[in-house]
Amino acid sequence: MRARITGTGSYMPEKILTNLDLEKMVDTNNEWIMARTGIEERRIAADDECTSDMAVIAAERAMEMAGVSADQIDLIIVGTITGDYPWPATACIVQAKIGAKKAFAYDVSAACSGFLYALSCANDYIRCGHGTKVLVIGAETLSRSIDWTDRNTCVLFGDGAGAVVVEAGEDGAGILSCHLHSDGNYLELLYQPGFGAKHPASTAGVDSRLQFLKMQGNEVFKVAVRSLTEVSIEALEANGFTHADVKLFVPHQANRRILEATAKRLHLTDEQTYINVHKYGNTSSATIPVALDEANRQGLIASGDLVLSAAFGGGFTWASTLLRW
Ligand code: ACO
Repeated sequence: MRARITGTGSYMPEKILTNLDLEKMVDTNNEWIMARTGIEERRIAADDECTSDMAVIAAERAMEMAGVSADQIDLIIVGTITGDYPWPATACIVQAKIGAKKAFAYDVSAACSGFLYALSCANDYIRCGHGTKVLVIGAETLSRSIDWTDRNTCVLFGDGAGAVVVEAGEDGAGILSCHLHSDGNYLELLYQPGFGAKHPASTAGVDSRLQFLKMQGNEVFKVAVRSLTEVSIEALEANGFTHADVKLFVPHQANRRILEATAKRLHLTDEQTYINVHKYGNTSSATIPVALDEANRQGLIASGDLVLSAAFGGGFTWASTLLRW
């Protein structure tokens, strides 16, 4: 038995924040942002919109494509680091909102690798025969964790949600393998210092801006390119394929330079590599399901095509998935 993606959906908030808008907020400029990241604009959630709201719309679009109703879903997994609350899981909120009465639900916290970690959980759940229909979502409201006075980070990120329905199917098409890695030694290169148990919410913490994402970008860049390349090769070699067999590479959309450097090391052409980071920036766990949905709806992947996906993020975490569409 294989676990197979049978529906994709995504939702991006309406509000667009351009590089020109950012020029008015911090000491930056369109040329710098374009040259270093390739990001032109990003989407920002409305004041009354948060992670579960976006996740629900993406999930409903994926379920509609799959022809699956909410009451048929066995399990909901949400990859997110910006859930509606510190706890309970945003997946439980999604479960209630869509009315997936028989589903159990939990979140996966693996930063930008969150969606591929969640997809791996869905794959294992289905292959073990525990259930047949899983909703896997990547959704983030990163704009609420960004320091909008820090030009090093605020130009990079955005909000959004993507979802897939994963169903049990016959051998052949479906997820061929998942490869997950972590290394907690890199914690302080990319993290949010407050307000967890180590630094609980406090006025002093707010004054020190501990509630915002912190990153050492150039260090992250080097490890990201190396890890994305290695984990992609791991997936191809585990299944006896080479770069030439890949129809579409759908990587985590961090920035254009990371994507192009990784694709070059993998010998993948522009036609084989899906990039939408210029429109949305880095939406962490949402980037891959959003990109998959766009590529799917544009007809860039057809039944039988080999699709490679890889992600890298805070933790550090990194992961890849190879699947036969
Ligand atoms: N506008 C103008 N100047 C800026 C900006 C900005 N928005 N941000 C930083 N600078 C300045 C810095 O202050 C520095 O100035 P200085 O030389 O006077 O000190 C200069 O630009 C160079 O800074 P670097 O950080 O060395 O720039 P770099 O070339 O590394 O580019 C960037 C920065 C884009 C963040 C890059 O390191 C990167 O892409 N890193 C990956 C980070 C990432 O994608 N993280 C997301 C999470 S992990 C993931 O998703 C893979």
